[in-house]
Amino acid sequence: MPSSSPQYHILPRTSTDSLSPDEFKDKPLRRPRNSYLRTVRRACRLCLRPIYLLPLLTIFLLWQLLLNASYTSPPPFTVPAHERVYIAANIIDGDLITGAWGRSLLQLVDLIGKERVFVSIYGGPTQALEQLGGMLECEHALVSESENPLDMASLPRTKLPTGESRVKRIAYLAEVRNKALIPLQTGKAGDFDKVLFINDVYFDAADATRLIWGTNVDEKTGNAMYKAACGADFVGWWKMYDTFATRDAEGYSIGVPIFPWFAGEGDAISRNDVLAGKDAVRVKSCWGGITAFDARYLQPQISSPNLPLKFRSEPEPFWDSSECCLIHADIMALPSFPTSPAIWDELNGYDKGIYMNPHVRVSYDAGTQSRLHFARRVERLFSPIQRLANWLAKMPVFNARRTEIEGEIIEDKVWVSSMAPPPTSRSAHAKRATIKGTPRMDDAYWHAKGHYVTANRTATRGAYCGVRQLLVVKEVVGEGEGNWDNLMYEVPPLGL
Ligand SMILES: *[C@@H]1O[C@H](CO)[C@@H](O)[C@H](O)[C@H]1NC(C)=O
Repeated sequence: MPSSSPQYHILPRTSTDSLSPDEFKDKPLRRPRNSYLRTVRRACRLCLRPIYLLPLLTIFLLWQLLLNASYTSPPPFTVPAHERVYIAANIIDGDLITGAWGRSLLQLVDLIGKERVFVSIYGGPTQALEQLGGMLECEHALVSESENPLDMASLPRTKLPTGESRVKRIAYLAEVRNKALIPLQTGKAGDFDKVLFINDVYFDAADATRLIWGTNVDEKTGNAMYKAACGADFVGWWKMYDTFATRDAEGYSIGVPIFPWFAGEGDAISRNDVLAGKDAVRVKSCWGGITAFDARYLQPQISSPNLPLKFRSEPEPFWDSSECCLIHADIMALPSFPTSPAIWDELNGYDKGIYMNPHVRVSYDAGTQSRLHFARRVERLFSPIQRLANWLAKMPVFNARRTEIEGEIIEDKVWVSSMAPPPTSRSAHAKRATIKGTPRMDDAYWHAKGHYVTANRTATRGAYCGVRQLLVVKEVVGEGEGNWDNLMYEVPPLGL
């Protein structure tokens, strides 16, 4: 092209463009970059006028509520006519037993079919259990904790570096759960296909059947395919509760507990499954207030001496793992039962047959329960907010042992106490109770208590479940006191 060719100026795009007095002066051939910015700004200004803003907001809201909701169209499933369900619970809230929880339980028994259900409760109070027992039409074993207390002497004890021996709160809770499994594990209740654990939650009976038979349904056979499947529990319509037992597909703790709950760490398998609206979100562990198990893992099997599994705790001091997380770790450590089709083969190393089904939601108060449907209409809006909040709050919480494999030898720091061991656990407890106020836990505080040495330890199963803390049972409970202690003043920080 000859260099003398005439240069053309672009014509004004809108009438307002031509208002500029120097429009036809030395205007460059291409629009300058910031003129796009100006266009955008102008568009925004226009939109922000109330006359446009209102309809735009309405359109956005309608789109969000009607088209961008999540977990509003659950896949179909059928309640099979032959499967038997063992329902286990450790509820200790009398108002719930004789109220909302009890009503939902009766409905659930009805939905499954009373001849195919066994209800086992270890809890109380006694009167509420008796009242419920009078209404249950299925086989049941309702055992009152106050009349049949746990044998504290039989619980596993943890030795602290000071030499003191205590019972972990988790060891107690694990035993409480095992109590509800006794009729199943002794074979007294018969054979079952599924075990359903229900916490002291508000739940919908139809949702419970969805969890049992509507999670990860195989298209050909119509069977729900899982080793364990849990619901999601909420303390507010926007806030998930279960942070202690839930671990994502790679063993990370959850993020800030608003939708999509999981953190975006690693491959973000679980987070992406939630965003994709899956009814079987792949996880390493979850509980969510309601959990269904393939019953074969929890009842005696002639073919496997490792079964039935029991709930358990982690004996190491300063390392607490939820009994509800360890049970999943134990299930995954076992060979899979043959299923058809065999979906338990590892898909990319992540599909281990433990799933969260976010269609199934439970809560801890009636108000939240009634708002859970609304939550599904708006929760997608939280996703970018949660991503930012995770980053600001530095979540998920770091766990140095997340990727440890059972049996590995790990060189680690082990705390050695320089305190004299207390003479007996009773007097030690009495002494602790007299310490008033909050000690200042600075370096001097810890150096007076002990020091770290480097030592080898063997990695345990389910290391991703653990948290650096120590909750113990109070074996001498004073008037008006809680029945467990948080020994945070005994747990030295790793950075010392
Ligand atoms: C831990 O074990 C490894 C080998 O298994 C050994 O090289 C190392 O010295 C041990 N560390 C300690 C502190 O004993």
